[in-house]
Amino acid sequence: MDIQQFFAALWDDYVAMTPQAQKIQDAFVADGETIVNDHVAFRTFDRGPITLAALEPHLLALGYTRFAPYDFTEKKLRAFGYLPPSANLPRVFLSELKCDELSLPAQSIIDELVSQIPPSATLEPSVLWAGRLWQAPTFAQYQRLMEESEYAAWLSIIGLRANHFTISVNALTTHDTLDKVLARVEVLGLSINPAGGRIKGSPEVLLEQASTLADRQSFTFAGGEQHEISTCYYEFARRYVDGDGQLYQGFVAASADKIFESTNTTPRENAPS
Ligand code: NI
Repeated sequence: MDIQQFFAALWDDYVAMTPQAQKIQDAFVADGETIVNDHVAFRTFDRGPITLAALEPHLLALGYTRFAPYDFTEKKLRAFGYLPPSANLPRVFLSELKCDELSLPAQSIIDELVSQIPPSATLEPSVLWAGRLWQAPTFAQYQRLMEESEYAAWLSIIGLRANHFTISVNALTTHDTLDKVLARVEVLGLSINPAGGRIKGSPEVLLEQASTLADRQSFTFAGGEQHEISTCYYEFARRYVDGDGQLYQGFVAASADKIFESTNTTPRENAPS
């Protein structure tokens, strides 16, 4: 699979879960913009056959290179940023939940899920949009995970796929600030994630980011109970050049921490970072 096929398949799966993303992209294209994605983000568990270390070889095989590790203490995550083989391709942000830091009951729910993954499931790069590789959890299991980790609860029902794509604001011509981008998105009737402020980061940290609130859809839990859940969202990023004139390539942990809350059912307003 070449890298264009990889991203085409990843995008198709993502917009099936996230209709707002196609709507946003279509609106900017209609305004005469060319869309370049700054990065794509994935979530996984550090258990079973789908750990970060097990998924990473697919990125490396596509020509990605490791850039920097990140740690999110409060959200119990570790992550790695990867640089693409060419500048017009998105960076990749791959995070995993540190399951050891959850309670034993929550860990046993996660173990029950990942134990169902067929050993062959991770052999192909398509594992990155395979979705849920296990039976749906019960609503009680989902709620138990939610009490400790929104990330774990989301992953238990959504599975492996792009959690978000990110429009590069640098590549836009008329909508060249985050404020302009968010105003355009709100005209479409979509909501912006308010956690940590609408725009996270600043020119001083060389990266500004914002995101929509995730799309919602009905989900059928094991046993037949149905509830509305969060799927995926779209992010927007503007990068600045550093003192050496180089465009910043990293991620700002304090900002990413709040971006994670785009899939929260009730995002916190201006949560401390
Ligand atoms: Ni992101």
